[in-house]
Amino acid sequence: MTSSKVIYSIVGQRLDKASKRRGAYEKRFERRWRPTVSLALMDNVSEVHLLYDNERALAEEVKEDIQKLNSDVCVSLHQVGFADPWELAEVHLTLVDFVEKEVVNFKPDHEYLFHITTGTHIQQICIYKLVEGHYFPGKILQTAPGEKGGEARFQVIDLDLSKYDAVAERVRRQKEAEENDLKRGIPTLNLKFNQMIEELEIISRRSPYPILLMGPTGAGKSDLARRIYALKHKSSQISGDYVEINCATLMGDNAMSALFGHKKGAFTGASENREGLLQRANNGLLFLDEIGELGLEEQAMLLSAIENQSFYPLGSDRLQESRFQLIAGTNRDLRESCRQGTFREDLLARINLWTFTLPGLKERLEDLEPNLDYELDQVSRALDQRFRMASDARRRFVEFSSHQDAIWSGNFRDLIASVRRMTTLSDGGIIRTDDVEREISRLKAIWFGDNTTGECVGDKSALDCIDQTTLSNIDAIDLHALTLAVDTIKQSSSYAEAGRKLFDRSRLRRKQTNDTHRIKSWLQRFDIELKDIPLRAKKYLV
Ligand SMILES: Nc1ncnc2c1ncn2[C@@H]1O[C@H](COP(=O)(O)OP(=O)(O)O)[C@@H](O)[C@H]1O
Ligand SMILES: [Mg+2]
Repeated sequence: MTSSKVIYSIVGQRLDKASKRRGAYEKRFERRWRPTVSLALMDNVSEVHLLYDNERALAEEVKEDIQKLNSDVCVSLHQVGFADPWELAEVHLTLVDFVEKEVVNFKPDHEYLFHITTGTHIQQICIYKLVEGHYFPGKILQTAPGEKGGEARFQVIDLDLSKYDAVAERVRRQKEAEENDLKRGIPTLNLKFNQMIEELEIISRRSPYPILLMGPTGAGKSDLARRIYALKHKSSQISGDYVEINCATLMGDNAMSALFGHKKGAFTGASENREGLLQRANNGLLFLDEIGELGLEEQAMLLSAIENQSFYPLGSDRLQESRFQLIAGTNRDLRESCRQGTFREDLLARINLWTFTLPGLKERLEDLEPNLDYELDQVSRALDQRFRMASDARRRFVEFSSHQDAIWSGNFRDLIASVRRMTTLSDGGIIRTDDVEREISRLKAIWFGDNTTGECVGDKSALDCIDQTTLSNIDAIDLHALTLAVDTIKQSSSYAEAGRKLFDRSRLRRKQTNDTHRIKSWLQRFDIELKDIPLRAKKYLV
């Protein structure tokens, strides 16, 4: 036996209205197609629920006419207040609220249908979304007039996409490509980048040894590290967690204990045992970002921990075992750091087995457009609204991107921010040429902003050893401090001496001090390398 049908329908203000000449032409009226009224003629209908906004009288009339055609149907009226029946979000939420209240009373042996033929277009779109999003556990019902406006026709539309193999398969493949692929499914064109990613994919699948990712900020090192982890995890190479730390944030006592953990009482303030990051990464993957910023002592401990797969937490005499795979990231030349004595050669030798340098965006401009599309998709998904670029606007943006003024100093970070700004400011989800022009001005201001020439910079000449691009990204307030720092270094005979002068108060409060390391890390915040600032006497006297 077929199950009884329960149908929900928004009363159609125009289509469901009875003919004015109804009294005189009673017979003709019976045959005139009124979509909601025609529901009475479907097989096995047990309930019809009429949703109406203000037109109670019309709803009553439709109810009456349904029952005239089929007295077995039970018709209920529901007043649903749409503040604005043409406003998508409003209608969607109103319908979601309504359906959620109704659904609790749904009977499993009934067939539920939402009639989509009446209501405003916005309401129809929302009904579709309700069914597609499984808020309404049923199917869509569409009605149409029969031949010569007589007898209605009914069509039930099942939106369960899993039934449509081809569609489902495509969606699945796309999702899998995004998850598995180190390129996240972006059809990139740059040969060097593509070859590098292919090689990395093979290595990630086969090798448990360290990987060193080099490249400028925003080129995608951290992102790639996470994807390599996902790949290794999925192929069951590792079972543990992904643990990530930016070494530039590790300072003094905290550096050691953050990495290797400590035993309760190991030092003042160590009130509890602490599990270090190396321990947490056991059987998993440890990503040490900005590894060049790690202090020499920590580097030594790290090397030993990698080689022995074990280490001593601070204040503990019990060897702690941890097997982790390592990825290191850096945007500086570690060989140069070795020459300066700030990075251990033996550690570099150990992590320098598979080394990849990620190109910046400027070096792979052919990939700008695929990435632009990818980011537009990302924003569209995040905001649940489709954003597009008008074709002349797109042409203009791509053209500007390869202009010499477009330095893309923050690489993908700049591109992502740019897309987010353009989508936010666009009207109706379409980015037009004037949106692009305004964005180009903003990008130029970011890259070559007034603050390199602004009044508030003190002795600008002190900063002549630092490149303009770097300076253009620094806030006015930091430029002041930077001018003082660079000036002081230039007038000191060692970096340690400059550090002592610059951190004159806070260093007195520390048990251990490494003034060179502190000044190095401080400069790192602005992407400035200590070695680029000459000392008074010898150049690299550390
Ligand atoms: N290949 C890529 N294509 C598009 N966007 C990327 C790519 N790599 C990274 N991103 C995005 O760019 C931003 C910066 O990437 P990130 O990995 O943090 O850079 P890095 O660690 O090199 O400074 C992140 O939001 C990331 O999701
Ligand atoms: Mg990073």
